[in-house]
Amino acid sequence: MITSKELRDKWIKFYEERGHVNIGAVSLIGDGTTGVMFNVAGMQSLMPYLLGKKHPMGTKLCNVQGCVRTVDIESVGDATHFTFFEMMGNWSLGDYFKKEKTKWSFELLTEVFGFDKDKICSTVFEGNDAAPRDEETASYLKELGIKPENIFYLDKSNNWWELEGTVGTPCGPDNEWFYPRHDNPCCDKCDVNCDCGRYVEIGNDVYMQYKKLEGGKYAELENKNVDTGFGLDRLLLFLNGLDDGYKTDLFADTIAHLEKASGKVYGANASDTKAMRIIADHTRTAVMLIGDKNGIVPSNTGAGYILRRLLRRAIRYCKNLGVDATEMLGVAKIFIEKIYDEAYPLLVEKEDYILDEITKEIKKFEATLAAGLKEFDKCITGMERKNAFMKEKDPSYVPETQISGKQAFRLYDTFGYPLELTIELAEERGLTVDEKGFNEAFKAHQELSKAQAQAAKGGLTEQTEATIKYHTATHIMLAGLRKMFGTSTEQKGSNITEERLRFDFNCDHKMTPEELKTLEDFVNEVIEKKIDVVKTEEKYADAVKAGAYGVFNAESDDQIVSIYTIDGVDKQICGGPHVKNTGDLGKFIIKKEESSSSGVRRIKAILK
Ligand code: ALA
Repeated sequence: MITSKELRDKWIKFYEERGHVNIGAVSLIGDGTTGVMFNVAGMQSLMPYLLGKKHPMGTKLCNVQGCVRTVDIESVGDATHFTFFEMMGNWSLGDYFKKEKTKWSFELLTEVFGFDKDKICSTVFEGNDAAPRDEETASYLKELGIKPENIFYLDKSNNWWELEGTVGTPCGPDNEWFYPRHDNPCCDKCDVNCDCGRYVEIGNDVYMQYKKLEGGKYAELENKNVDTGFGLDRLLLFLNGLDDGYKTDLFADTIAHLEKASGKVYGANASDTKAMRIIADHTRTAVMLIGDKNGIVPSNTGAGYILRRLLRRAIRYCKNLGVDATEMLGVAKIFIEKIYDEAYPLLVEKEDYILDEITKEIKKFEATLAAGLKEFDKCITGMERKNAFMKEKDPSYVPETQISGKQAFRLYDTFGYPLELTIELAEERGLTVDEKGFNEAFKAHQELSKAQAQAAKGGLTEQTEATIKYHTATHIMLAGLRKMFGTSTEQKGSNITEERLRFDFNCDHKMTPEELKTLEDFVNEVIEKKIDVVKTEEKYADAVKAGAYGVFNAESDDQIVSIYTIDGVDKQICGGPHVKNTGDLGKFIIKKEESSSSGVRRIKAILK
């Protein structure tokens, strides 16, 4: 057996012996620069350096980095999907390239982990318009002794790595390492392309030599970088000859805890096994997110909402398993005190706080869960009655099997049911949910709240020269925030006096000093550029079409609204008034950033 602690150490030692510096892990909460909510890969925090900036710790780096990926949340419950995992990484920032990297990965696999070189398979990029076929990597692999028939050329969907939905980010072709679980091919064609599950991807070396541009184009980077990622959780199960990630030392104790609490045996039946996995996985991720250095708490927006969904899904599976949801606290304690105590000492420091936040969420959810279930049952009974009635009238009537978007939204809004909870409950009864309808109801609700917020805003009490300046400053600041955190960032409140502005906006984390500096610099740059603030009037629908946004809620599409445009910076539907030119504002200084309410941050700033 190799333990998770040993595996982390082996990784770091191997790369330190080859001149790499261990840079440690960064926060799990995305820094807002890529628009990605959580840290999804080790390279995420190294992006500026992969693009050419000098890293203070050198050109050869390594670490073990926690990552959170929730796209596959529905798959969690099987043996190999997790919402949190650790990525073992190493990087060359314009230092070594393909020759050394193939050699080291090969050495690590064969000499440290004892893989049989004759069984190792490797895939490389087959080439396209953007980048050539990776013959270079293939030739090194052959020189190392990998059998030519075990080297595969695959297309961009397999052997190209980039952060989806981003531009300006580093990317490139990758070389993936595969190993068979056993020696019994399922058919004549059973190779890495086969989906029978015999071949498992152990890790990948990305040759980050391109920068992703708009429109699917790529530019060659000056630096030729390497970005390696090997999933610790996956490798751990593989090295121990297991086929179930919940049997490794990372999970074994928490599963035993749940077995004891429920009196059920892991693996004995599918639904209890799935419940135990979901409870363990989601509790682990919640512990990591709450206990992170930029820790978050459950809320109704952004990252906080994802955390809430994870916790609530786990709570619900506690019910399925027949254990009290407070058993999650026992699971959390095992992760904090026994499994991650050395690798993540901060969790130990924050233990009481983490357990307290989980307890609070359990209480909150339990209060609404029962009421929501009643409401859910009412929906079903209503549908069944209607179906029976219609069928009697018309035998060819096709019975309804879908819960409407409005009903799902009511469950969300009034009873705190995340959409997927409603979907799961529906699935258990052979029904579906109108997800599109849910999203529409969600949006309509948001717009209503905005209108209410606007009515209650009273942001500008008196219009003096000073308050007008502060008002324009809030526009520029919001544009900066949207640039940093994405266009879902909105004004949640504004209060302006002669002396200062106070501005609330949705944001899932405490802003870091660097983020505040970036924001401050952004506003001051716009001021220095002396851009005219131009007022126009348009029909509401046309304004929205032209990209204008704002807390304004029009009575009709045809309503004439005023728009204030700061060219290249911001376009808001707003009653005004504003200064004529951004140059009128003076120097913008952020004084304070604090929490306003759950998922909402507040900035106080002055103009000098
Ligand atoms: N960035 C690569 C990955 O996440 C190494 O797999």
